[in-house]
Amino acid sequence: MNAKKDESVDENRLLSGTPQDEEEKEEVTLRPQVFGDIIGRKDECEAIRILIDAAKQRKEAVDHILFHGPPGLGKTTFAHVVANEMSSQIRVTSGPAIERQGDLAAILTNLQPNDVLFIDEIHRLKRGIEEILYPAMEDFMLDFIVGKGPSARSVRLKLAHFTLIGATTKIGSISSPLRDRFGFVQRLDYFDDSDISDLIIRAAGILSLSIDKSGAAEIARRSRGTARVAQRMLKRVRDYSQVVGSNGTIDKNMASNALDKLGVDEIGLDDLDRKILRAIIEKYSGGPVGLSTIAAAVSEELETIADVYEPFLMQKGLIKRTSRGRVATELAYTHLGLEEEWKGSEEQDKSKGQQSLI
Ligand SMILES: Nc1ncnc2c1ncn2[C@@H]1O[C@H](COP(=O)(O)OP(=O)(O)OP(=O)(O)O)[C@@H](O)[C@H]1O
Ligand SMILES: [Mg+2]
Repeated sequence: MNAKKDESVDENRLLSGTPQDEEEKEEVTLRPQVFGDIIGRKDECEAIRILIDAAKQRKEAVDHILFHGPPGLGKTTFAHVVANEMSSQIRVTSGPAIERQGDLAAILTNLQPNDVLFIDEIHRLKRGIEEILYPAMEDFMLDFIVGKGPSARSVRLKLAHFTLIGATTKIGSISSPLRDRFGFVQRLDYFDDSDISDLIIRAAGILSLSIDKSGAAEIARRSRGTARVAQRMLKRVRDYSQVVGSNGTIDKNMASNALDKLGVDEIGLDDLDRKILRAIIEKYSGGPVGLSTIAAAVSEELETIADVYEPFLMQKGLIKRTSRGRVATELAYTHLGLEEEWKGSEEQDKSKGQQSLI
């Protein structure tokens, strides 16, 4: 069972940021344990190290921390690393797993001083349960009502000083009273290609795979700046090299052949990304077109397109968002080899019009 998976996202897609079956177990092997194992993220590590050291000096619990950002970029990893660096025990739960106020009350009353409570997908906590967290985070107090009707009374319990670490892919869905109670909020963004290359080399070492720099760079280039995707691609390339190749060192050629076969192109787009671009260009003359129309045209859930595909296509400069809908850029046309269509598109006329106004 995995309550955290979003049913609307195609879990088996090679480029999906969410973990696939079995992958979560494997991730434990690859997961950094201490700051020294973490690739890149220098500023983030530095800031958190200061937070921990300062709290240690004051002999206080470390401030509550919220990690947010797209899937597969290291939120869970950081939660564990922070707990290790604090030499603390970590209790792990998730928003959807806490069904009743009593569930959370039981977790909170069992915490020892300095423990870390990690709540994954914290945006999915029910509002009534969330309210229990406010006094717990602020004053280390648990307020709850015992009994019902006229005999009901409110009880206050003192809690151990603990550190709450929350993780979410949807910072916008967190209520502001909850967000404001985190002393430290850290966004984890996409990695750059050079960090992803290092990450692949580290993962290959742990998995006893031989890969050269060119092979790692080739996988990095196509991995959408996402650690989890890079690790998954490395494993698929390993399979390919085992079956087709001589099982030797993975180099640029081997990596690019394997990824071509898997339908991932040289900038990391898969079939559905290309289908979306083609739909905008060929069915709607390059846009503007609404997201729900695009979703219907490619037979995908609106939420999947909005959360997974659109951010990456925008980041790559292949589509842009306008007040009237999504528009394919010139880059999208050239990437798909549709230069002729670009010349005749309305969007190009518009860009020309804008230029002449300036
Ligand atoms: N900075 C890093 N250095 C090395 N490995 C990393 C780093 N960040 C993430 N990883 C690896 O990437 C994989 C995914 O990371 P993680 O599970 O922490 O992502 P997440 O942000 O919690 O994703 P989700 O939103 O799906 O929960 C893990 O195997 C982890 O070891
Ligand atoms: Mg996670």
